Amino acid sequence: MTSPIEPGHGATLSDRADALEHQMIADLDRRVVKSVIYTAGDRDPTQAVPPPPGAGHFMMGDDPRLAKMPENPTLFDFFKHRFGPANHVLQSATHALKAGQSEKIVLACLLHDISVAGFIRGDHGYWGAQMIAAYVDEEVSWAIKYHQALRFFADESVGYAYPEAYIRYFGDAYEPEPYIKRDYEYARNHKWYMSSRSITLHDVYSFDPNAKVSLDDFVDIIGRNFRQPKEGLGFDNSPSAHIWRTIIWPTKFL
Ligand SMILES: [Fe+2]
Ligand SMILES: [Fe+2]
Repeated sequence: MTSPIEPGHGATLSDRADALEHQMIADLDRRVVKSVIYTAGDRDPTQAVPPPPGAGHFMMGDDPRLAKMPENPTLFDFFKHRFGPANHVLQSATHALKAGQSEKIVLACLLHDISVAGFIRGDHGYWGAQMIAAYVDEEVSWAIKYHQALRFFADESVGYAYPEAYIRYFGDAYEPEPYIKRDYEYARNHKWYMSSRSITLHDVYSFDPNAKVSLDDFVDIIGRNFRQPKEGLGFDNSPSAHIWRTIIWPTKFL
């Protein structure tokens, strides 16, 4: 017999992923409704959200499919339980450290893509900056915000060329949107331009599988430069506390 998570021959990968997800949700005894933003594009966001599979009450609080977060979660807990593989940011921060950059820049490199790793990809520089603004020197969050735009513009004077990878990712006819151009122009003339530019310089795409990088190497730098709230990220009433809570409870019904 074919189980619900093993559809018969001919099922596409996406059918199988859907079946697996439905089975996991059925096992939960909770009804999980995804936010419109999670599925917009795959479905028309102006149409009613389809009724969720599963049974029981709607999901509130901890989603049992995810690792439970401590009551006062730290940045390390998010790296461990909610962010995807950190190799890219660890390698960037290591690169910055070896280049003799200041702790502020090393921290900026370490956190520059946390939105991609754990929240939202599109406009990740802006989201990432907002997530950490309350806990770091303003220059760090500023640099992260503007790396979003600077990535797309070469600066030969410091050896930054338009990334090869972007031609593969977006095609050679791709042009950044007007707001990205506007923010690039603004950042280029700002006193912290080089801080943000440094993120792009250390933003290495290729990962050496033999490189040994670990968050443990950055514990001290984080300790000195990231003001971890004693209530935990998500519960200190900062302007971005709700973003951290959404990462803790991504499937909360309301
Ligand atoms: Fe980035
Ligand atoms: Fe990056």
